[in-house]
Amino acid sequence: MSDTKMTASRRQLIKGGLAAGATLMLPTRFAIAQAKPLKVGLMLPYSGTFAKLGENITSAVELLIAEKGGKLGGREVQFIKLDDESKPENGPQNAERLVKRDAADVLIGTVHSGVQMGIHKVVRESGTLCIVPNAGAAAVTRDLCAKNVFRTSFTNWQPAYGMGLALGKRGVKKAAWVTWDYAAGKESGDGFREGLEKGGGQVVQVLTLKFPETNFQPLLAQIPGLDVEVVGAFFAGGGAVQFVKEYKAAGLKAPLCGSGFLTEGVLGPQGDAAEGLETALHYGDGIDSPRNAAFRKAFKDKTQRDADVYAVQGYDAAQLLAIGLEAVKGNMEDEAGLYKAMRAARIDSPRGPTSMSASQEIVHNIYLRKATKGENKVIGIAAEALADPGTGCKL
Ligand code: BEZ
Repeated sequence: MSDTKMTASRRQLIKGGLAAGATLMLPTRFAIAQAKPLKVGLMLPYSGTFAKLGENITSAVELLIAEKGGKLGGREVQFIKLDDESKPENGPQNAERLVKRDAADVLIGTVHSGVQMGIHKVVRESGTLCIVPNAGAAAVTRDLCAKNVFRTSFTNWQPAYGMGLALGKRGVKKAAWVTWDYAAGKESGDGFREGLEKGGGQVVQVLTLKFPETNFQPLLAQIPGLDVEVVGAFFAGGGAVQFVKEYKAAGLKAPLCGSGFLTEGVLGPQGDAAEGLETALHYGDGIDSPRNAAFRKAFKDKTQRDADVYAVQGYDAAQLLAIGLEAVKGNMEDEAGLYKAMRAARIDSPRGPTSMSASQEIVHNIYLRKATKGENKVIGIAAEALADPGTGCKL
């Protein structure tokens, strides 16, 4: 709430109190803020190829708030949900609806990198607190970073860099990269190439198709001619299910691997086609810690679904918000206190140890996983405590 509005509401309370002949016991700004529910805007995909990702993020945010008794920093939480359909063209308008019309105190969103850039424009202008629970668009915590924007998921670069690094260490010299032609696919490809090059390998070809198209056959047909040892890929959600199945059906010699979204939350529908696929991600089914076990159980009890990385990221977005709100006792006007606590946060995440970088991006392990009998089993650490470079960010 702006100072002008706050003054107006205090004025009204004063008037009301005097009219009733009450003793002049003025509520403090803090008490007024505490009495109002905290409006949390959830801008996520609830339809389209990323619908399941948005649902798991939402369920996990709700889970954490329920574990906190429905309150953060002493304030009741009120959710406002908006389906962004993973349509970048509607991103700015949808974000404006939440920030301006609905007066959300905080915006948690979204999944798709292109939509995120629309949100980012709006929250940078309005100064609304924004926590990113998935979309990995680099600019958000690099050259366009902002003091009111935090991310609890990843940058697109991070997991793919881990995969490239692991392949490079094994001596892989020639690889191809297949993906959707938008920020997440491109930036993941950059990370994959950079990691591979560290070990002396090369990405000799990048094959793309438009998001969210799934006409993979023309791309798959080119792979045998490339003479590569492995094929890396970024796809997620429904697109990943279909790609992995068609890759297997094509009987290609080069093993498929990728950024972990390729097999995350979709092993069931992928079936045998995913068996043995190696990917790298900041989460894996085998993370053996009481924290992870408790989270997975609570998520399953609430939703009857298994937790995945999207659920973890949503849970951690809500945890980060809780850390900030508790530090300022619900008073979001104390921006300095709020951001200070969030920057210093070490979220107790199901994924393992975390911290926040100077650009307000999460720092975490990138695990190497192998799809085994319906689980993304952790088989090693591809990159420990990996921070995004945060290039161009000055906070
Ligand atoms: C993205 O657009 O940033 C994204 C979408 C799904 C999974 C991972 C990243």
